[in-house]
Amino acid sequence: MKSPSLLQALFALGGLGRVAAAPTQARSWELPLTWNSFGFLAKDSITVGTPPQNVTVFVDWTWISQYLITETCHGTDNTSACLNDKQSYFRTADSSTFRDETVLFPSRTWNPNHFFFDLDLTVDYASDILAVGPYGQRTVIQAADFQFDQGEDYYPFDGVFGLSPVFANDNASYQSPFFQGWQAGTWSAPIVAFHYCYNGSVDTLKGTCGGADGLQTLGGYNPALVKDEILWYENIVFPEVNNVDFIYTPPVINYWALTLTSLSIGDEPQALNTTVGSGAIFDHASYGRGAPLSVDAYTRLVELTSGKPITIAEPPNNGEQSFYEVECGQVDAFPTLSYTFAGHDKIWEILPANYVEDFGNGTCVLNVRTLGYGDMVAGNFGETFAKDKYVLFDFEKLQVGIADLAW
Ligand SMILES: *[C@@H]1O[C@H](CO)[C@@H](O)[C@H](O)[C@H]1NC(C)=O
Ligand SMILES: *[C@@H]1O[C@H](CO)[C@@H](O)[C@H](O)[C@H]1NC(C)=O
Ligand SMILES: *[C@@H]1O[C@H](CO)[C@@H](O)[C@H](O)[C@H]1NC(C)=O
Ligand SMILES: *[C@@H]1O[C@H](CO)[C@@H](O)[C@H](O)[C@H]1NC(C)=O
Ligand SMILES: *[C@@H]1O[C@H](CO)[C@@H](O)[C@H](O)[C@H]1NC(C)=O
Ligand SMILES: *[C@@H]1O[C@H](CO)[C@@H](O)[C@H](O)[C@H]1NC(C)=O
Repeated sequence: MKSPSLLQALFALGGLGRVAAAPTQARSWELPLTWNSFGFLAKDSITVGTPPQNVTVFVDWTWISQYLITETCHGTDNTSACLNDKQSYFRTADSSTFRDETVLFPSRTWNPNHFFFDLDLTVDYASDILAVGPYGQRTVIQAADFQFDQGEDYYPFDGVFGLSPVFANDNASYQSPFFQGWQAGTWSAPIVAFHYCYNGSVDTLKGTCGGADGLQTLGGYNPALVKDEILWYENIVFPEVNNVDFIYTPPVINYWALTLTSLSIGDEPQALNTTVGSGAIFDHASYGRGAPLSVDAYTRLVELTSGKPITIAEPPNNGEQSFYEVECGQVDAFPTLSYTFAGHDKIWEILPANYVEDFGNGTCVLNVRTLGYGDMVAGNFGETFAKDKYVLFDFEKLQVGIADLAW
C-alpha cells in the first residue's frame, strides 16, 4: 500500500500537480508522533524540497499553514545573527523546486504570537514539494523571515505542520498542508484522526501506536480504534478565543471548536458563560494539557478533593492558575468531569486518574487549566481530554468527531 515506488514515481515526475494521476487506491498515512514539552513532533516522516530534506515538524491543530524555519535572516542567508547554532531549518537554497510566492501572497507578521511572543513572527509565502511519507505535491508554505536573534533559544523542530480548519472566506491556496494535499487529490478523504498512546493507558507498550506516543492519521482514520460510534459535531467560530486564550495580532480564528452545552463535576452542573457562550477549542499541544474548567468550577473541584496549595517547579500544564496538591490514595474517589457539546446528548468524561498528575514520589497535583473569569467561557480540549478517546476532524464538512477509544 505505502509503496516506495510511488515516491520514486512522484519525484521522477517532479512531484507537483501530477499527483492526481497517481493510483486511485485509498491514500492515507499514519504519522507517528513523539511527545515533547511543546507538543507532538513528527520526525522522519515529512520531506520538503528537491532533493528531499527531512524536516521534523510540530503537528499543530491550531496553526493555519506549513511554517518552516529557513536560512533567511535580516533578508540574507547568513543565519548567525538570527538562529541559534542548534536550530535546524529547511535550506531553501538547496532545493531546485523552491519558489518564492510573495507576488501572489503578501508576507505577513504576527505580534504577539505563540512562538516568539512579542517578537515578530514574519513569514514569506513560498512553495515547494512537500511529501508525507510517499505522498506529496506542491504546497504553499510559510517560509520564516527572521528579523531578530533567537539568542539562547531554539525549537527542536524545523517547522509547524498546521491542521487548522479552512473556512469559506479563507483563500484555500495557502492553508493547512493537509488541506492543500486533499484538494490536490493526494488524500482519499478530508479527514484526520488523533490517537493518544499516553503513559498510563491500558496499552502499556503503545502497540496501537506502533510504539510511538501518538498517531496523527491523515486522509482517513482507523475504524478498529472506534469503540461504539463516532459522533460528529458542527464546528463553530468562537472569536472570544483571541481574547482569553490564543492572543494573536492580527487575530487567528481558525480553530476546531464546538459549543460546550454542559459542564459537570460529578453530578453538580457548573455555570457556563451566558454573555459570550462557552467554547471548546481542540488543541493537543502544550496549551491542551490539563482538564479544561472554569475558574469557579476549579475552586469547587479543589474543595471536593481537599486540594492544598502547592508551588511546583514543573507544573503539569502552562495555565496561569494556581496548583493544588491532593492525596494520591484518594484519587479513585474523586468526581468525574463531564462535558456535552451542541449536537448530541452524549456525555464525554475525564476520569480522575486522567486529571490528577501523579509524580510517582507521593506528590499528586490537580492537572486543570482555566481560562477567563468566573463561569466557563472557553477551554482547551487537548491531551488530557483526548485520553481514551479518538478525535477526528473533517475538513470538508467542518465537523469534529469524537469516539470512545477501542483499545
Ligand atoms: C529521512 O529520514 C528517514 C528515516 O531516518 C530516512 O530513511 C530517509 O532516508 C531520510 N530521507 C532523507 C531525504 O534524508
Ligand atoms: C554573518 O553575520 C555575523 C554576525 O552575526 C558576522 O560576524 C559574519 O561576518 C557574517 N558572515 C558573513 C559571511 O557575512
Ligand atoms: C487566492 O489567492 C491567489 C493569489 O492572490 C489568487 O490567485 C486566487 O484567485 C485566490 N483564490 C481565491 C479563491 O480567492
Ligand atoms: C512517558 O514516559 C517516558 C518514559 O518514562 C518519558 O520519557 C516521557 O516523557 C513520558 N511522557 C509524558 C507525556 O510524560
Ligand atoms: C515529586 O516530584 C515533583 C516533580 O519533580 C516535585 O515537584 C515534588 O516536589 C516532588 N515531591 C516530593 C515529595 O519530593
Ligand atoms: C463571560 O465572559 C466575558 C468575556 O470573557 C467576561 O467579560 C465575563 O466576565 C464573563 N462572565 C462571567 C459571569 O463569568
